[in-house]
Amino acid sequence: MTRYIILSALAGFFIAPQLPETELRWDWSTIDTSATQFPKDFKWGIALSEYQNSGEQACPTCNWADWEKCCDSSGRPRIEGGERSGSAANFWDTFSADIKRMKNLGINTCSISVAWSRIEPREGVFDAVAIAHYHKVFNALHKAGIQPFVSIHHFTHPDWFEAKGAFENEENIEYLVRFAKKLFTEYSDTVKLWCTILEPGVYAFQGYFRGVWPPGKTGHLRLMGIVIKNLLKAHTAVYKALKALPGGQQAQIGISHSVTQFDPYHPWNPIEHGVTTFMNHIFHGAITYYFKTGEFRWNVPGLGLRVTHTDYDAPNTLDYFGLNYYSHVLIGMRPQLQVIDQMYRADDIKTDMPYSIYAEGLYRAIADVAGIGKPIIITENGVSMSNEQDRTLYVQRYLYALSKAIADGYDIRGYFHWTLTDNFEWDMGYSQRFGLYGVDFKTKKRTLRDSGRYYKQVIAAS
Ligand code: BGC
Repeated sequence: MTRYIILSALAGFFIAPQLPETELRWDWSTIDTSATQFPKDFKWGIALSEYQNSGEQACPTCNWADWEKCCDSSGRPRIEGGERSGSAANFWDTFSADIKRMKNLGINTCSISVAWSRIEPREGVFDAVAIAHYHKVFNALHKAGIQPFVSIHHFTHPDWFEAKGAFENEENIEYLVRFAKKLFTEYSDTVKLWCTILEPGVYAFQGYFRGVWPPGKTGHLRLMGIVIKNLLKAHTAVYKALKALPGGQQAQIGISHSVTQFDPYHPWNPIEHGVTTFMNHIFHGAITYYFKTGEFRWNVPGLGLRVTHTDYDAPNTLDYFGLNYYSHVLIGMRPQLQVIDQMYRADDIKTDMPYSIYAEGLYRAIADVAGIGKPIIITENGVSMSNEQDRTLYVQRYLYALSKAIADGYDIRGYFHWTLTDNFEWDMGYSQRFGLYGVDFKTKKRTLRDSGRYYKQVIAAS
């Protein structure tokens, strides 16, 4: 472990031998978070995902349904507490009622993913019933005055695609392109907003670095780089294929990218600096850089890793840039110097996820991705909190940071809150509650939370 920390610290120096970005901190005691202003035509939305809201019952032949059933090599279940997603919040069967809830919040956009495994359960075979189902969902959204914003890939895909090596193999990109074209041909009359790939960095990090998501390949850094490269290639291939279809020019197509800054707890500490630089690079920095320059440089010299790809046309394959932001992670050395760990500052308010409330980070992330030069949509932001007062505080602060960024001239077109109802949080199962509506998973009953009321108020006021 110590050897690994030193290597990654060294790698960090090679990547960016400059001082770390300053950890922006605002004095919240002097800020009136209700002083927000948003443009009239702003896209106010919520974001959800099919698997997290409908569970394995709706998507029984996908990589995640398989993953949930198995254990790791020491026999530990893959999902916290041995839970299974089941039917989750049962969005599949009760989407009409949830769309009424969205309307109640006053949103005008709903970001949603589709179950590829349900639409194409066998390679090249498309399921008419599943296709008809999504026609119903998108039409219902439309009728409610809510624009569907469809993510083509949000972590799940058919088991036959997984068996082919998914995004480990560049040849597999063509399957995603074919699926995307099918979706577009079916739904482009109703769906004008598309996201090709959701969070390439997170998908690769969890599946190939931490190994806690399928395919569970822990510590495969090189493969992680290859998977990200292939996901980026898949994005550009899907973008170009959809743009060439009838209606393609009228659609807005982009990608959603998760930025989590890693900050050194002690800014003067060279080891913390190296490790955070390394983490920022592998998790999100190399991806942002690719869209700024057309150059993907997965280049970690101290570890002898190099995965590269150049496509100077890549920055032109974005009609908007989707930013997903939750918080930052502070990395620090414990006094005994052997351990490098996640730390919190004294006045940090912790969420139920392993991070604190840090709205300044949203502002920083916006400033960073603005360098890509495209309109920005905040395609995900939200929090899991058992304390409802703190959940509302999170929403207040982040919406304040967003409003400030808009006032400061950043071109931000929309904000989608993650998420409408409590749902299945991947390997963390039902331990996390991200919903503006709480869900009793026994009865599936939903209850609007204070944070939901606050979000509704802000939308109404704007
Ligand atoms: C993912 C969601 C997840 C959320 C909260 C996002 O990065 O896209 O699927 O539920 O984070 O952890």
